[in-house]
Amino acid sequence: MAYENILVETSGPVGLIRLNRPKALNALSDGLVTDMEKALNAFEDDPAIGVIVVTGSEKAFAAGADIKEMAGFGYMDAYLNDFITKKWGRLATCRKPTIAAVAGYALGGGCELAMMADIIIAADTAKFGQPEVTIGTIPGAGGTQRLTRAIGKAKAMEMCLTGRMMDAAEAERSGLVARVVPAADLLDEAMKLAERIAGMSRPVTMMVKECVNRAYEATLAEGLLFERRVFHSTFALEDQKEGMSAFGEKRQPAFKGK
Ligand code: HXC
Repeated sequence: MAYENILVETSGPVGLIRLNRPKALNALSDGLVTDMEKALNAFEDDPAIGVIVVTGSEKAFAAGADIKEMAGFGYMDAYLNDFITKKWGRLATCRKPTIAAVAGYALGGGCELAMMADIIIAADTAKFGQPEVTIGTIPGAGGTQRLTRAIGKAKAMEMCLTGRMMDAAEAERSGLVARVVPAADLLDEAMKLAERIAGMSRPVTMMVKECVNRAYEATLAEGLLFERRVFHSTFALEDQKEGMSAFGEKRQPAFKGK
């Protein structure tokens, strides 16, 4: 399927979405977000795909929601259409593991989009920020919530109240990103990471993700119970038998995804 605002490709079990509005620094227009939602749906439905990577360009992962598009909105445009965050949220609801590979600006909705992925891997050029306050609004796709959970109140408050950007080194130090790599290696590293995850048992990776995400939603006792129930369920998988036999036989496991 051809899209206007993104480029989509696959590499073995990895689905790759490149945001592609270079002239607008990948500003997240309604068209782009609609394309991305469709591409994510297609990858989620495709049994050959195990992991999804979202990336931007060298200069920008995404410089935020499209300010020119939303400048004239009234409250009813935003409210009745559940202003685009409904579509954006698709990345956060993917059941397959997702990786955001971020180079350059990840601002406003761009930072929020990256935080919807399971793992952020950053180029040394990456800059994260929630500058909405500087244009008279607030983060609307999780910036005040996911950023606070990722880096803590002090830094999140400072960033959301001032619009200050955080560079890649600070983002790694603060726990926002899993790893920083040289910009030239970003996509290779992200794809390698994706392939490594895609080589594990598919249902197990999906279960891991569900359990880690549960930590954001539940009390410790509930989360531990959820984890234990899911852990027990892995013993129903052929992949668990294969993984543990392979260990005993000193060979690599060949997971079947069931
Ligand atoms: C629309 C944008 C844009 C955006 C950049 N552009 N960001 N267009 N929406 N968010 C456009 C510029 O207008 C310009 O178009 C072109 O991209 C290049 O941008 P420049 O500003 O010329 O580049 P540069 O000087 O390098 O500065 C880069 C920048 C700056 C620091 C990233 O563009 C910037 O501050 N952008 C806005 C960042 C921001 O405030 N984001 C938050 C948006 S609100 P022309 O046609 O002039 O060449 C948000 C709310 C989300 O995200 C809520 C959830 C729904």
